[in-house]
Amino acid sequence: MKFSLEFNPSNYTVQTLTIDSQTITYRAFENNVYVENPVDTKYQIMNIYVPEAYYEGKTIGSYTASTAPIFMPNTVGGYMPGAPEKPGKHPWHGGVNAAFAALLKGYVVAAPGVRGRVTQDEKGVYTGKAPACIVDLKAAVRYLRYNRKAIPGDTEKIISNGTSAGGALSSLLGVTGNNADYEPYLRELGAAYERDDIFAASCYCPITNLDNADIAYEWMYNGLNDYTKVVLETVTGEKFIPGITPPEQIRRVFVSDTMTEEQIKVSNKLKGLFPSYLNSLGLKKADGTELTLDANGNGSFKDYVKSFVIASAQKALDSDADLYEFDWITIKDGIVKDIDFDKYVQYATRMKPATAFDGLNLDTPENDLFGTKDIKAQHFTQFAKEHSTAQGSLADASIVKLLNPMNYIGREGTSTARYWRIRHGAIDRDTSLAIPVILAAKLANNGFDVNLEMPWGQGHGGDYDLEELFAWIKKICIS
Ligand code: DHB
Repeated sequence: MKFSLEFNPSNYTVQTLTIDSQTITYRAFENNVYVENPVDTKYQIMNIYVPEAYYEGKTIGSYTASTAPIFMPNTVGGYMPGAPEKPGKHPWHGGVNAAFAALLKGYVVAAPGVRGRVTQDEKGVYTGKAPACIVDLKAAVRYLRYNRKAIPGDTEKIISNGTSAGGALSSLLGVTGNNADYEPYLRELGAAYERDDIFAASCYCPITNLDNADIAYEWMYNGLNDYTKVVLETVTGEKFIPGITPPEQIRRVFVSDTMTEEQIKVSNKLKGLFPSYLNSLGLKKADGTELTLDANGNGSFKDYVKSFVIASAQKALDSDADLYEFDWITIKDGIVKDIDFDKYVQYATRMKPATAFDGLNLDTPENDLFGTKDIKAQHFTQFAKEHSTAQGSLADASIVKLLNPMNYIGREGTSTARYWRIRHGAIDRDTSLAIPVILAAKLANNGFDVNLEMPWGQGHGGDYDLEELFAWIKKICIS
């Protein structure tokens, strides 16, 4: 069955929602299939929300129905399928979610659903393996442009937002605008013939640059052999089954363990591979200083990563956090002078044993992401393929390429978002701090406007600073 790409402006309900004594009234246009040939109508749909005030000819702040920027959140986590966000409470922190906050501030919200690594059709064929997640987001952007006369909001001001795997997708969407590599996938789905570049990307803890994430992780965590990870199970202690266990029955439990001798050897090898990768990027600081590492993993890049942790500690200190208990932070006259990086890493703790992403036993979310329509999970690095304990096959290099924003920044024929806000909690151990720093540096070196911070005391998560996020969005939309 072919679906129409025409948005139906009369198919809506008016909804009013009050959370924490804040009330919004909006038109909800839900479940719009955004491609002509969907393979999954549960996820290839978009919810669009518009403040009702705009239909009464009113303005919110300086925005009108036609000038309001479009806020585009995705709910992808763990490279699982993500349902379209609805205004409401945030599932993790319990405050209002980004869609609610955006409507309150007068944005149009366009919330696409996205296929994920476990999505299957009725025959058991996987329909959401890479690159489905990024292709879906691009198709959703094209749908908005295709319907720009019928849908309120300014399609030249689309701001994407996501957390973790969703943050990675937000970065990919921001980087890869209109790149021809994705065209065959978009054609097959019957996506609209429109541009798919966006204005800005907000990325919380993007779990990205996956094919280099193992070496980046060991560069940071090598020498720490104990790890503590979060395992999902059901509230009754049974095995969590992705896509099957209902969200309200999921319980997060901490499991601590020590890496095996074999894993420690792997960690040592991977750590040694990181400097040459990093040096190959030719990254620079804003003042032109080259960011490099010596064979031991020390050098200006490490100092640069540390500078973000120092800036974070300073901000915390300035807002009265007590940092004097940490003997690895040097503070003089209210100024954070230095941080002992190794001690800071010990404080943060390791979360994942080596290999952190391309599991030798094919047991990570990322292995699953790089499966195919009939292979559940694959490797995506040469290292893990060579050390595989599961005789795993290697994903097609052209698919791995499509999932890594580093391949597209500043590339000819590609429109990259002009504005970037990247946040990675200072104690978020889901990926190495090197990953957001590399992404930000490459964007900045290519002339894009990047705002990267590592909020103090913040673990893995997103949307925890919505006031600041929307203040940033307001500023970039005016400038
Ligand atoms: C997410 C977390 C991870 O540690 C990971 O490897 C991939 C995704 C997430 O929370 O989305």
